[in-house]
Amino acid sequence: MLSPLTFSVLRLLGDGEFHSGEDMARALNTKRANVWHALKNAEQTGVTLFRVRGRGYCLAGPIDWLNRDVVMSALGDCVFRLRILDSVDSTNEWVMRHAREGAHTGLVAAAEWQREGRGRLGRAWHSALGGAITFSVLWRFPEGAGSLAGLSLAVSVAVARALARAGVRKVSLKWPNDVLWRHRKLAGTLIEISGDALGPTTAVIGIGVNVKLDPRTKAAIDQAACDLAETGCAASRSDVLAHLLAELAQILPAFSACGFAPFAAEWQRLHAYHEKNVTLKMPDGANVAGKIAGTAGDGSLMLKTRSGMRRFYGGEISLRRA
Ligand code: BTN
Repeated sequence: MLSPLTFSVLRLLGDGEFHSGEDMARALNTKRANVWHALKNAEQTGVTLFRVRGRGYCLAGPIDWLNRDVVMSALGDCVFRLRILDSVDSTNEWVMRHAREGAHTGLVAAAEWQREGRGRLGRAWHSALGGAITFSVLWRFPEGAGSLAGLSLAVSVAVARALARAGVRKVSLKWPNDVLWRHRKLAGTLIEISGDALGPTTAVIGIGVNVKLDPRTKAAIDQAACDLAETGCAASRSDVLAHLLAELAQILPAFSACGFAPFAAEWQRLHAYHEKNVTLKMPDGANVAGKIAGTAGDGSLMLKTRSGMRRFYGGEISLRRA
């Protein structure tokens, strides 16, 4: 855990300029030794800190902090209630905790720094302070989990639309939930569902978008990854978060009313592997090879295999180009 003082120090340094320990202590009304300890801890967030004798401390680059007012004023009247957290284990975990305590549809938690981000298939989601957009949305559905099979695909369509609005060209998708740019992963979705088989169901929709990958974070990611900076997108994290929430505000009620079917054609157009030969890795380790024929209205992937057309549902399956 990092102390609030560490974040206050990082906010001072976030302008990208040099600040002496003494000036920071004075500005924060604390002792120099406390600032020194805060600085020692700051590197845990993944930021790179420089110290130059006679000039003080400086970050490798400015921090693009989230700004709640910017996000909410871009959204106008909407269902979302946004909390911005300095540091959290996982925004999915935070929202799940609040859901268990009775929070309503529309609760959103976004983090400046997520310490233990979770990905699909038990993987970790790596990000540094200010280097990603990491947030989770609580949405309650009257139906059972069975009718939510296409939800992560519909959410990926929302992410692709939002990134297009932020100026990112040529975003594509990879079944079931990756968002790609030039065939490298730019964003991902992890949806965690709880509730009764026949409904109602609580979904925590977690989205992570790489904004600026520092070398340490990039090295920790075990697949080809890219970030918004590479795409040439100059929008702030707050602006991109606002676009993402605006698209989710459209897509989630529409999914609740009609399921995935209205998004199936758009999803297929965005699919980087449509009509390509792929291998699906099943949860038991078996591989199934075939050619992608499309996605059905229930969100299942249709694969032409040697034994005929088969359908697969997201969950624990991963897809690779053959
Ligand atoms: C994946 O592609 O494997 C899914 C990545 C999902 C990451 C996001 S970041 C915000 C939310 N909180 C988490 O712990 N995970 C999701």
